[in-house]
Amino acid sequence: MRRPPGQDGCVGVVGGGYVGLALAAYLVTSGRSVLLVEADAERRHALSRGEMPIYEAGVDSVLSRALREASLVVTGDLGLALDATRMVFITVGTPPGADDLPDLSAVALVVSELRTHAKPGTVVVLKSTVPPGTGRRIAEQLQGPPFRLPVVSCPEFLREGSALRDMHTAARQVIGGDDREAMARVATVVTAPGTPVIMTDTASAELIKYGSNSFLALKISFANELARFADEVGADIVPVVQGMGLDPRIGPEGLRAGLGFGGCCLPKDVRALVGAGGRHSTAFGTLEAALQVNAAQRALFTEEIRRELGGRLNGRRVAVLGLAFKPGTDDVREAPSLDVIRNLLGHGAELTAHDPCAIGKAAPLLPPHVRLTADPYDCLSGADAAAIVTEWPEYLRLDWDRARQVMRHPVLVDGRNCLDPGEIARRGFRYRAVGRPPAQAVCSADRPGAITAARAAPV
Ligand code: UGA
Repeated sequence: MRRPPGQDGCVGVVGGGYVGLALAAYLVTSGRSVLLVEADAERRHALSRGEMPIYEAGVDSVLSRALREASLVVTGDLGLALDATRMVFITVGTPPGADDLPDLSAVALVVSELRTHAKPGTVVVLKSTVPPGTGRRIAEQLQGPPFRLPVVSCPEFLREGSALRDMHTAARQVIGGDDREAMARVATVVTAPGTPVIMTDTASAELIKYGSNSFLALKISFANELARFADEVGADIVPVVQGMGLDPRIGPEGLRAGLGFGGCCLPKDVRALVGAGGRHSTAFGTLEAALQVNAAQRALFTEEIRRELGGRLNGRRVAVLGLAFKPGTDDVREAPSLDVIRNLLGHGAELTAHDPCAIGKAAPLLPPHVRLTADPYDCLSGADAAAIVTEWPEYLRLDWDRARQVMRHPVLVDGRNCLDPGEIARRGFRYRAVGRPPAQAVCSADRPGAITAARAAPV
């Protein structure tokens, strides 16, 4: 393995999942060597061959090059990493467990190995998302004899789909702990030039992570509730949130109304904070409401499709566009598409579905009679209605004239407010979005070309 100079020129990353791979990519691009420890043999062998188990722009090419140049080595042997490095990042998964709190068994396993194999002076960096108080308990477990390993909390704020960019241009780096020297070493390794660094205690660092994801969820659910009200009073949620977001106290991000939040992080972390609050004596009423609004959003969308089809879904063909929980990823964990499809099938609809890259991950989770198509026009062919569930750029660029020609009825329900209502209506569609005045088909012009994005304005 190529060994850059310096105490932390080579670091260990334990867990080859999303966070571990994105972190490894960041570390090698900033000139370090990485020993990536992955316990799952199949995943490990695939990784060693340069096959990435995740779809994330840039990460695969960076890691493939690092493997060739030997600045990345994949191993199943944590002992090897602990011999070769003095800084080890824990990036194993913390999936939802009992009582909505995360299952920390994978973290516990790594900690027990660290107790046996770690060398004096090794800094343990906790990057997996864990409830406040976890880092402190791990630090107690890693206190001698014969020595004490400093534990530093360094939560992750990257977004799927833009992981590498987010790491190089992070809004902040959060470092928690009580060993200033260890914290400074971690900050040097993970912080891109110019990124503000918050140094704090471990529990506060852990709470910054939960507080941030939960606040994003609150914003999204509030935008969605406001969109429902906009529908009732005849307002348009797109300029409404644009106007709100320009206030720096509010900010433009996380205000896009639509099908709500999914993925492996926001829903899980909000539930975990509610659960952790319940274990103490804090009732997070706002977060419980955000979860309710989010769940209802998916049911309301199905209802909207039913209404647009004259109140009957039984035997009607609906084309679902988008399966991933958001564009730029093949991740379908807690994706709105899964609930929307379940609801539509429950009402007797016949379904086709398309996604530019998540079909492989979605297929095992869907009933076999949902016809999955590699081509969006094939998906739309013969449909009574199209439902946009994920705002992939491919759908903005679709030839909607051709789409209208292949569909049985030109009805389009946009769960992400990603098309321009006026323009799509001019192409002969009946268009319904979330919190926007309905657009009726105004003509059936045969104008070629792509529909412009409704979000051309910065929201
Ligand atoms: C989220 C956070 O944004 C990251 O900072 C954090 O590091 C990550 O979780 C994590 O904990 O690992 P991510 O789940 O990749 O990142 O996705 P987001 O871009 O935040 O979107 C989450 C969901 O909210 C998506 O389903 C998206 O469609 C939805 N959303 C987002 C909206 O409905 N409206 C918006 O305005 C923004």
